Amino acid sequence: MTPPASDAVDEPFILPVASGRATWRRLRRLLKEQRRPVVVVMCIQGVASAAGLVGPRVLEDVINNTTRAGESGRIDAAVAVFAVALVVATLLTGLSRGLGAVLGERVLARLREDLVTRVLDLPMGVVERAGSGDLLTRASTDVDDLSYTVRAGLPQLLVASVTVVLLVAALVWTAPLLALALVPSIPVVVASARWYLRRARPAYQREMASFARVNSDISESVSAGRTIEAFRLGPARVAQTDRHIKTWIDWERTTLGLRTVFFGASEISYVIPLVLTVLLGGLLHLHHLLSVGAITAAALYAQQLIGPVDVLLSWMDEVQVASASLSRVLGVHEIEPAPTTTAEPIDDQVAAHALHFAYHDDRDVLRGVDLVPTPGSRVAVVGPSGAGKSTMALLLAGIFPPRRGRVTVGGVDAHLIPPTRLRREIALVTQEHHLFAASIADNLRLVAPDASDAELYAALDAVGAGTTVRNLPRGLDTRIGSAGSVLSPGVAQQIAIARLVLADPHTLVLDEATSLLDPGAARHLERSVARLLEGRTVIAISHRLHTANDADVIVVVEGGRITESGSHDQLIAAAGPYAALWRTWQGEPGVEPAAH
Ligand SMILES: Nc1ncnc2c1ncn2[C@@H]1O[C@H](COP(=O)(O)OP(=O)(O)OP(=O)(O)O)[C@@H](O)[C@H]1O
Ligand SMILES: [Mg+2]
Repeated sequence: MTPPASDAVDEPFILPVASGRATWRRLRRLLKEQRRPVVVVMCIQGVASAAGLVGPRVLEDVINNTTRAGESGRIDAAVAVFAVALVVATLLTGLSRGLGAVLGERVLARLREDLVTRVLDLPMGVVERAGSGDLLTRASTDVDDLSYTVRAGLPQLLVASVTVVLLVAALVWTAPLLALALVPSIPVVVASARWYLRRARPAYQREMASFARVNSDISESVSAGRTIEAFRLGPARVAQTDRHIKTWIDWERTTLGLRTVFFGASEISYVIPLVLTVLLGGLLHLHHLLSVGAITAAALYAQQLIGPVDVLLSWMDEVQVASASLSRVLGVHEIEPAPTTTAEPIDDQVAAHALHFAYHDDRDVLRGVDLVPTPGSRVAVVGPSGAGKSTMALLLAGIFPPRRGRVTVGGVDAHLIPPTRLRREIALVTQEHHLFAASIADNLRLVAPDASDAELYAALDAVGAGTTVRNLPRGLDTRIGSAGSVLSPGVAQQIAIARLVLADPHTLVLDEATSLLDPGAARHLERSVARLLEGRTVIAISHRLHTANDADVIVVVEGGRITESGSHDQLIAAAGPYAALWRTWQGEPGVEPAAH
């Protein structure tokens, strides 16, 4: 099987994939945690399989004895034993399958929980760089593939392994010479399995990575639909997606080819033992070395082997898919989690010292930013587009760690403070508020789990949404968000701001891209935000100078540096860049404010 020429995985950055060894280690650890149920399932299945072996032995006895006369009593007894063994085997097999399924679910639950816990601990920067598509595929498609194998496969594999071992033992015991009939199949199975296994794992991984990329393409195209239309990027996006789909299909074909060869070879290996048992048995019988009964029993055992061996081999394929999925799921564990500290901030002072930051290694977007706002004061940040204002906001809020320099909150590095803790110190407010598909109360209690209804209403009142919510038929219990949204965007935004009131951080960083909103909505929002700002330190990125000029300190950012700072009057007197911006903005009609 030649893999497709165009390789799917040439992304500049994809999340790591766990190695075969690491995947095995983790799987063994998981099974070890479940040692008792594993042993119980195997023991029960052992007894069930042993009971299944009784049939052929009884038949052997019957055949050998009916050749003599007057043995009907013995036959009745034999049939009774056969029947009892069959019932026992059936019941116990059912029981072991059931227990095995429970075991599978447990292992799966563990894997899922571990993944979610880990994903939540990932550094924002990593997710940002890798794109959310890959992570999404791992948490959805990969976990689904895995769940099928673990749920259905794990119990069947345990059962089949036990059965194969017992059947081979029974065959050897019944007619050691006939056990030789199994031998020719072994190289066929081993060779085809080795051939397959060597190729399958990387091929499935590539197939899944190429599918993840198609997934990324499509979800990106959907979420950036407007931009794509605005820049007429449609045909280019379609062409790119087509190309990625083609690569994906090529990998699908490759893996299909692998399966076709492998399954063909294994079918042949099933028939060989059966044919050889009968041939060899006939030969031995002609030389009076073996009874007809023993041949029958051996042939039945050889026939019985087909079932469990087929289960093992066909699951090997699924196991390949699953192990590729598992290594992608476990790969998430190989990313260093965001470091955290238990140190507690000692005061309300936010400070940035000599900040350097780059999105890509080659170019610093921030180049030595110092900012130490007086607690309780209002700092306005102005500057041309692309100067690094939003980047500075992300660093101040601890979302990205600085490449050099420090951002501290009460003396502790901001990016080391666990996010939920940090939000009670400093919060970044942008136009993108997210409300979850849950009740209004649930959305608010995310940041204040112990808040009473009265406290929730107080926060809503503070942003001017209290009355609106009180008038809803179900009040705080109203379900909002994607499922059954009942709120206007304005009210939704107010609720998001009320959530910040409840989080009660001492410092707020506002990155107001008010250009996204119509002027009415912007004014509405400003009124709600005004209450939020009272009594807090505010670092406001202002695109319009009139919101900047009443700040305590105005900071001008240009080219990743703070080039000027002071009060409005000081900066006007200094006649530097701010004064120039101000004149442009104030004076000449028809000239757009340069700071926008
Ligand atoms: N996610 C990103 N990946 C790579 N580069 C980025 C990213 N975000 C911003 N940049 C780059 O970093 C620089 C600073 O961008 P930033 O968004 O901080 O500027 P800004 O001052 O907020 O601009 P604006 O006034 O337009 O909002 C720009 O050159 C921008 O292209
Ligand atoms: Mg910006």
